[in-house]
Amino acid sequence: METKNIKAFPKDFLWGSSTASFQCEGAANEDGKGESVIDRRVQDKSLCDYSVASDHYHRYKEDVKLMKECGLKAYRFSISWTRILPLGNGEINQKGLKFYDDLINELIENNIEPIVTIYHFDYPQGLIDQYGGWLDRRSVEDYVRYAEILFENYGDRVKYWLTINEQDHVMHHPFRLGLQGLDAKESVRLGFIANHHMSVAGALAIEKCHEMIPGSKIGPAACFDILYPATNNPVDVLAWKDAMDIRNYHVLDLNCLGEYNGTLMKYLEDRQMVPSILDGDIDIMKRNRPDFIGLNFYMSRSVKENPISETNKIGDIDVRILPMAEAGVYMTVKNENLKSTLWGWEVDEIGLHISARLLWDRYKLPLLITENGFGHVETMPNDKEMIQDDNRIEYLTKHLKSIKEAMNLGVEFLGYCNWSFIDLVSGHSGFSKRYGLVFVNRDEHDLRDLSRHKKKSFYWYKDLIETNGEKI
Ligand code: BG6
Repeated sequence: METKNIKAFPKDFLWGSSTASFQCEGAANEDGKGESVIDRRVQDKSLCDYSVASDHYHRYKEDVKLMKECGLKAYRFSISWTRILPLGNGEINQKGLKFYDDLINELIENNIEPIVTIYHFDYPQGLIDQYGGWLDRRSVEDYVRYAEILFENYGDRVKYWLTINEQDHVMHHPFRLGLQGLDAKESVRLGFIANHHMSVAGALAIEKCHEMIPGSKIGPAACFDILYPATNNPVDVLAWKDAMDIRNYHVLDLNCLGEYNGTLMKYLEDRQMVPSILDGDIDIMKRNRPDFIGLNFYMSRSVKENPISETNKIGDIDVRILPMAEAGVYMTVKNENLKSTLWGWEVDEIGLHISARLLWDRYKLPLLITENGFGHVETMPNDKEMIQDDNRIEYLTKHLKSIKEAMNLGVEFLGYCNWSFIDLVSGHSGFSKRYGLVFVNRDEHDLRDLSRHKKKSFYWYKDLIETNGEKI
């Protein structure tokens, strides 16, 4: 609905920007860092050279200087688990600890609040080799020990923590679980086992964080690509409701309510996929409620019914990036009302407004936007030019407007971190898909000089922060 007198952004709103370790740091084999599942997967350099990424490991001071110039109040980054514990457990690597110690000090000296993601996709290969990683219960203890090391070493300076980035994506991407060559159905079953362990581990990390760092705030970073019913045919609306429960709410229900929702439980039972839930697990999750929800938002999707037939049987899953369709549950279809990015992501700022309200109604937790951004192809400008990324500015402006509107209707927000500060390696599309406010001079294989160049969106964001989002 149209509303009057839209509120201003709060004075302490965290205007920030995000990255993740393996996507920007590089130095994949330096200073004692151990191998992660990402390093293992990208040994084949035909994809893109991840081992250097944006070279942030060696240029972090220059990058923090740029953050300061942009006026960032917060910087969300992730810690590489295998820099701290090369095997995922066992011996601590002091050089790894020192890198983040220096980065955090640099941020604080520049009045930038560090927001730390404990684990963002780069799971230790050592734990896969020892016992199969998240599929084994021992993974819970090892994650919690790793988190404790971070709280112990950085808790005096870091107040905002994120437990796990996009647990729902980790469980649906076999390579992020260190799995290969499985059929779709089996990988979905194993994904739910991993999901349960991650949920318990995340809850225990919340408990430790609250015990060890008084006044700290911690929550999950969830991806919430909102779904819409493709038509007003009740069968499609029903498919939408099922898909929302099974695909969108299920992880946050575990993280924030300590519950397997009824739709999900029935779905798991019918497919003999209920993971082993130990006595006490539900209690651990229920008693450790997060302080906020980190929300990664990029797009919406639309779904319709997907009737069972002779050739479309329960358990049939179409795995492309995520399970996009399931026989008897739903199928994803194109939304003709929306434009897409070059990668087919349907741009939908109103979807962010709706998501924020749905999440607020269901969990009553403040939101921190931990990712939101526009991926595009951009090339190095000549000396006197600047990248004119007006499409990115438009995307970010519209999404921020949606946040303001949702705020006006009562949803609480702690801040907004766009994805990403500098260009970095995309999760799926190498270096050609750029999100940064700052251009990094390299391409997939040619590392060039990795120099940094401010895009038009950098100056737009700087101005926005200076005026506390007044122009939105
Ligand atoms: C989120 C991830 O899913 O989306 C990021 O947390 C990722 O790591 C971002 O980079 C954008 O996805 P992609 O595939 O375009 O890089």
